[in-house]
Amino acid sequence: MLKAENISKSFIDRSSGKSFRLLQDVSLEIAPGEAVALMGGSGSGKSTLARLLLRLLPCDTGKIYFRGTDITKLSGKELAGFRHAVQFISQRPESFLDPRKKLGYSLREALEVFSLPYAEEQALEMLDLVKLNAKLLERYPHQVSGGEIQRICLVRALLLEPELLILDEPTSMLDISVQAQILHLLKDIRAQKQIAYLFISHDRLISEWLCDRVVRIEQGLIRS
Ligand SMILES: Nc1ncnc2c1ncn2[C@@H]1O[C@H](COP(=O)(O)OP(=O)(O)O)[C@@H](O)[C@H]1O
Ligand SMILES: [Mg+2]
Repeated sequence: MLKAENISKSFIDRSSGKSFRLLQDVSLEIAPGEAVALMGGSGSGKSTLARLLLRLLPCDTGKIYFRGTDITKLSGKELAGFRHAVQFISQRPESFLDPRKKLGYSLREALEVFSLPYAEEQALEMLDLVKLNAKLLERYPHQVSGGEIQRICLVRALLLEPELLILDEPTSMLDISVQAQILHLLKDIRAQKQIAYLFISHDRLISEWLCDRVVRIEQGLIRS
């Protein structure tokens, strides 16, 4: 479904001003419904790879295909289809929410962007799935906890019925007890819906527990 072939990415080091290659000939394939864990130390390029796969950042070399089409070639309706099918849950979820808008508004807006109707019933079902009270939708982001924000972001992503969810260390900012809740949720969601995951983590036990397969980035290279 999503296939990266020999992608490389270099950045300019801010202190030395020199270019350094972060990712080198990285290849990765995620099949429909498959959960792949992407592991690697801090600074190994995991978030950068996620941004490349999401077409938020261009690759220097290499190709990324979604359902067989090179993602750099997507535009208009097809690009919207890609943005719809591949959802992202970030390390800092609050950056996805408008601080001035109630959470319910942000949920409706996520669907409006794709000209999809907001189905109240479906939203309530998703809120139930992530164990959130519907009253929360009347609150602003600063009035809820980090764990609740992350769950709202999950609801938002799930309402779009994605084929692939890219989760970049989704629990790293949360308390241990909330982490466990979110991880169990992610496992339940996968059991109910056939969504593929790219789960970025630095925890081997969690990765193996949640995913079908684990790949590692080390020194810019992917190892299976
Ligand atoms: N736009 C950028 N310009 C320069 N360096 C960057 C940029 N984005 C990321 N980096 C650097 O690339 C390295 C990997 O970052 P990142 O992909 O966030 O790693 P990880 O998510 O594995 O911790 C870090 O050293 C980071 O500072
Ligand atoms: Mg990161």
